[in-house]
Amino acid sequence: MFWDKDNLKRLIEERLSDFQIILVSNREPYMHIYKGGEVETIIPASGMAIALDSLMQTCGGTWVAAGSGEADREACTDGDSLIVPPQAPRYKLRRLWLTRQEENDYYYGFSNEALWPLCHVAYTRPRFDSGQWETYKSVNRKFAEVVLSEVADPRRTIVFIQDYHFALLPRMLKEAEPNLVVSQFWHIPWPNYEIFRICPWGPEILDGLLGNDLLGFHLQYHCNNFFDTVDRTLEARVDLERFSIFRQERETRVRPFPISIDFDRFEAWARAPQTQRRLQELRHSLSLGGLKVGLGVDRLDYTKGIPERLEALDIFFRKYPRYQQRFTFIQLGPQSRLHIPSYRQLNALVDSLLEEINSQYGQGRWKPVIMLKGHYSQEEVVAFYQLADLIVINSLHDGMNLVAKEYVASRVQGEGALLLSPFTGAARELTGAYTVNPYNPEEIADTIFLALENEAEQKASRLAAMRAWVQEHNIFQWSAHFLQALIHLPKED
Ligand code: G6P
Repeated sequence: MFWDKDNLKRLIEERLSDFQIILVSNREPYMHIYKGGEVETIIPASGMAIALDSLMQTCGGTWVAAGSGEADREACTDGDSLIVPPQAPRYKLRRLWLTRQEENDYYYGFSNEALWPLCHVAYTRPRFDSGQWETYKSVNRKFAEVVLSEVADPRRTIVFIQDYHFALLPRMLKEAEPNLVVSQFWHIPWPNYEIFRICPWGPEILDGLLGNDLLGFHLQYHCNNFFDTVDRTLEARVDLERFSIFRQERETRVRPFPISIDFDRFEAWARAPQTQRRLQELRHSLSLGGLKVGLGVDRLDYTKGIPERLEALDIFFRKYPRYQQRFTFIQLGPQSRLHIPSYRQLNALVDSLLEEINSQYGQGRWKPVIMLKGHYSQEEVVAFYQLADLIVINSLHDGMNLVAKEYVASRVQGEGALLLSPFTGAARELTGAYTVNPYNPEEIADTIFLALENEAEQKASRLAAMRAWVQEHNIFQWSAHFLQALIHLPKED
């Protein structure tokens, strides 16, 4: 069945109309900042938040998230809440306020210095700190209290939790209200047992997650790692026929749901006249006239392989000198999690590699690599997708990588090449991509060359197949599959 906004809405009206949906994530979908003395709304650089916003705009409900913008309190219209999106209000955003210490220990600390590197096998060592772990627990409790305060009738409420910031929240909610339907999607990989077992609080984390009725990962492979991890860590029965785990007689279903994007939204942005205008402006302001363009779009995160990409570009310009002054690579890299030392180090490394390449090869107006670290709206990013003859996504490890799908959806003219790491979830689906091993910069350089040289028809047919795939396997299908799995949960009494 082909899923779009309308039939997802119908599914919700027919099967879930008397349910209240509460979505929980750390990152909010809309953030408020001050710009020139005014309060401005921006959409944070989080593929998770952008994709889930399309679901919430369709089904309505409440989204509970940490307020993170300097103007967030001022922008609330009803206590700690407001109705979003600002231009076409569809659902309630309930903000929760973290203290600086909570933000440091729960967000920067345990979530992003322990769980993030633990789950991404990117050879960055996780750091476990018992103080941060205590705060992680207390912030999960704080979210539980806010979620419970939003519940009207626990028998008619579905809580849908996002990501690794909340491993303990499901159990806390179930203990407080056993009749709540509690579900979670883990947007990052789940590592194998050998890796996970170094976490000093592994059993508590697993027990927390088993408070869910339904737990989703992107890939069957991540589900299998999770089954194995539980089996070797906890007193629980792993039932591989039902794809379920039973702990104290309660069942948690574990299923793969590869997340996706709102294909139509990206296509519409790509076709919009203002995108075409922006594209011309960019060509002009970045001096791109007559050049082939490569693109990278990533938060500045060590899992994304950005230094490896710059190394590959260095090799590319050395090995294929005829592309000097004929090809420019644009890297959009919003800065991320800068309080964490490994992110600051990455930032400095990227700056110095960039400086080296540009001083070595740059000539006149032509720059081999243009780095843009500012914040761009989704529509602006789409103009960059439109500009790029190829995109390089060489993550060292990535749960899905929605940039790959966004690029494919935005290439409405039917040309363009996707270079994709096999260590992303997206690589399982986007088989028309050119595969690049992020640990082999020479291969990336050669593949950039290959993609530039390949026949246009060959690239078009690869792209067409991927566009058809993403159009069908879109965020509404993902949401429908997740909700259908929830509808078919055994009822508790
Ligand atoms: C990943 C995570 C999301 C997160 C995003 C941006 O995609 O899975 O949960 O929102 O990165 O990271 P940030 O720390 O800025 O929210």
